[in-house]
Amino acid sequence: MNARPDASSLPIRLADYRAPAWRVERVELDFELGIATTEIGAKLLLRRDPAQDESLRLDGENLELISIALDGEVLADDAYRLVDGGLEVHGARDGSVLETRVRVHPAANTALEGLYLSGPSETGFLLTQCEAQGFRHITFFPDRPDVQAIYTVTLRADRARFPVLLAGGNPDGSGELEDGRHWARFVDPHPKPAYLFALVAGRLEKIEQDYRTADGRDVQLKIWAEADAIDRCHYAMDALVRSMRWDEQAYGRNYDLDVFHVVATHDFNMGAMENKGLNIFNTKCLLADADSSTDDEYRRVEAVVAHEYFHNWSGNRVTCRDWFQLSLKEGFTVYREQCFSADMNSAPLKRIEDVGLLRRAQFPEDAGPLAHPVRPAEYREINNFYTATVYEKGAELVRMLAGKLGTAGFRRGTDLYFSRNDGRAAALEDFLAALGEANDVDLSPYLAWYGQSGTPRLKAHGHYDATRHEYTLTLSQHTPASLQQPRKQPLPIPVKLALFGSDGRMLPLHTDGQTDASEIVVVLDEAEQCFVFRDVPERPVPSLLRGLSAPAVLECDYTPAELALLLGHDPDGFNRWDAGQQLALRAYDALRDGAHNGAVNAWCDTLAALFDDARLDAALLADLLVPPGEIELAERESVVDPARIYTLRQQLQQRLAARIGADKLEARYRSLAAQSTAGIDAVSQANRSLKQRVLQLLALLDPTAACHHAATQYLDAPSMTDRLAALGVLARHDAARSVEPLVHYRKRYASDPLALDKWFALQAQLPGEGALARVQALEADPAFTLKNPNRARALLGTWANGNPSGFHRADGAGYRLYADRLLALDALNPQIAARLATAFNGWQRLEPHRREAAHAALASLAGHDQLSRNLAEIVGNMLK
Ligand code: ARG
Ligand code: ZN
Repeated sequence: MNARPDASSLPIRLADYRAPAWRVERVELDFELGIATTEIGAKLLLRRDPAQDESLRLDGENLELISIALDGEVLADDAYRLVDGGLEVHGARDGSVLETRVRVHPAANTALEGLYLSGPSETGFLLTQCEAQGFRHITFFPDRPDVQAIYTVTLRADRARFPVLLAGGNPDGSGELEDGRHWARFVDPHPKPAYLFALVAGRLEKIEQDYRTADGRDVQLKIWAEADAIDRCHYAMDALVRSMRWDEQAYGRNYDLDVFHVVATHDFNMGAMENKGLNIFNTKCLLADADSSTDDEYRRVEAVVAHEYFHNWSGNRVTCRDWFQLSLKEGFTVYREQCFSADMNSAPLKRIEDVGLLRRAQFPEDAGPLAHPVRPAEYREINNFYTATVYEKGAELVRMLAGKLGTAGFRRGTDLYFSRNDGRAAALEDFLAALGEANDVDLSPYLAWYGQSGTPRLKAHGHYDATRHEYTLTLSQHTPASLQQPRKQPLPIPVKLALFGSDGRMLPLHTDGQTDASEIVVVLDEAEQCFVFRDVPERPVPSLLRGLSAPAVLECDYTPAELALLLGHDPDGFNRWDAGQQLALRAYDALRDGAHNGAVNAWCDTLAALFDDARLDAALLADLLVPPGEIELAERESVVDPARIYTLRQQLQQRLAARIGADKLEARYRSLAAQSTAGIDAVSQANRSLKQRVLQLLALLDPTAACHHAATQYLDAPSMTDRLAALGVLARHDAARSVEPLVHYRKRYASDPLALDKWFALQAQLPGEGALARVQALEADPAFTLKNPNRARALLGTWANGNPSGFHRADGAGYRLYADRLLALDALNPQIAARLATAFNGWQRLEPHRREAAHAALASLAGHDQLSRNLAEIVGNMLK
């Protein structure tokens, strides 16, 4: 029952943007809700742009039109026309009122876009997902973000089956109807685009809390979930309240309705959605409790709750003119969310996490066949552009601008941006203009970052003149060409830097502009530039791109000893970690090339020393002990053999473990285990993080000892983090011994979908050629289904994206199975199929056997004529 819009339809281009010829000033929606069938009445007050002369065209897909009337008159058959993807109406004027009535089928909607059913028909509830273009699956409407209307929504339904009726906006009456039915009405006073519309109806429980905004509004906060999940919503409520306070303090933004609803569903295509006044969350990003959630999940819930709440200003009050501007709301909101999380937790750890994600997910995207600018120039299916580039690289660009303006300057800029654009649908230019004007700087050169794809390579070369005590740093940039953009321009790259003396201390910096700072930012805005530092007492070790001051790859001719110096001494946790990552890359290269051991020893020796340093934060140490992952390592190879990368990386970690020594690892594990608690405070989390890392390293030296600890830890674990860590070590190092705990876990969490997802994911991650058979066996588990996105992602997504040595089998059998599942998924849920298909990214650089097999799998996918537009676009781009 999915729409199959013509997969070969023409791309939509940014350059073709035109303001809407018709707007909707007010809309009244009337829902007669039912699981199998829902009827929707819509009354649109239309406004025509006098400068344009176009007849009225509304978007609509999969809608059964029941009736249509214009200005009170039923329309004759020749006064309107159903066309592919919509409806044309003749005779509408400025001020006309169009009334339509349509029928849709929520239970049959497996694409989870528009109005759909979550859970079984008998007990599940109805909900909507409209971003980006789901509203056209609900009613005929100009479904574009620059059409903003005032919504009045009336819901009618059987009271016993749908006791809770919710829509965005303020409540505006409710009551009984005949036959056991009831109704509820909601009015949203803030004009909004259709993608922010939402409703929810069914049997839901709630928790609530009162909140008073800084500007004095009393707000009822309500979180809704099904009965089995409601007790796990308290942490989200706590995070919501902290987010609201934070946005008041950090950005001066207050909430603007009398109620704020949050609803949890197990059936969701993404993480969560910022619908005005009625956020809807994937349970994965909302539920948290000590027994079933890991520390990472707690932080994720906190971050996503904040993210969706922050959208109320960065996205809702100021929305996007068109979908090319998506990063205007997403990049900015991710940046806001990152700063909030940094404030709530540890700033360096948060930055390590975010940069890790950027390098693992965004850099590869930006280097492969799916590369696109943060503001794409064209798309066929907008849902394919909710990418790491739009989100994560977009957030890095905002971070760059914020860094340039400083905290106070950035705040002045965002104040101006919000006040000037409130109620408007804005473009990225509006953002840069407000930030710039509020600070009297011209930020327009930074627009180039939004239009150019690819990760710039930053080369650095230092020269020290010992007689003049001058240090000259030559920086140059180069962005590799891509198919769409064969010639890349130089970009303004802010390079935050410091110089270190041989004793590991930061040297004071003397340049023409600034004096005496120990850390400064220079901006490289040409292909190559020199920066001179005076009064430098000795040949310094430069620390460059500190904090990852721009989303670039640094290529610097450091010696291993220089990187070791930074890893050992940099006072900033992130920069220390980053030096360690660079050193680990050198060590990896040395192992791979059978070269001299200098880098391997430098990495291992420095970390072994830090391992004994009692002053070092345990969580930071845990991160320092992890070398770059397999995906990052593959990014640096021109010919990729995932199995070999896995083996070499294991060897590298083994060297580290051996250098620290089994006795020390064992002793540290015991002491950490003795201090373990179930708490989610920073100290307890740090304990668990390091304990897990130590156990993993120990397992590389002495698997028997490590598995012995793991078996005990699994049984005694006071938290999900400890439980999964133990299971992971067992499953990797003693498959036989892991059978029983895996069966135990499966039983214990049989009715907890999120915990089961982790069970699937853990096994999907087990490395090596055996992964394929394991995945197939898990597909046969009665709990496996392609219909639930979380479940499909937990098994298939984790295998293909999180287990390179397991997915990229030399015989290509992994690709064939995966392509087959993508086809099956595509028939159910095109958005999820297309997203999962991106796991083929990078296939062109695989070694010839795998490359051939991956190509064959992609080509066979491309040969199917029933592909959704979503999957067709990804596969098509992949093969370009
Ligand atoms: N706007 C949502 C967020 O907070 C995500 C919506 C994703 N939509 C989609 N069609 N993929 O990031
Ligand atoms: Zn978002």
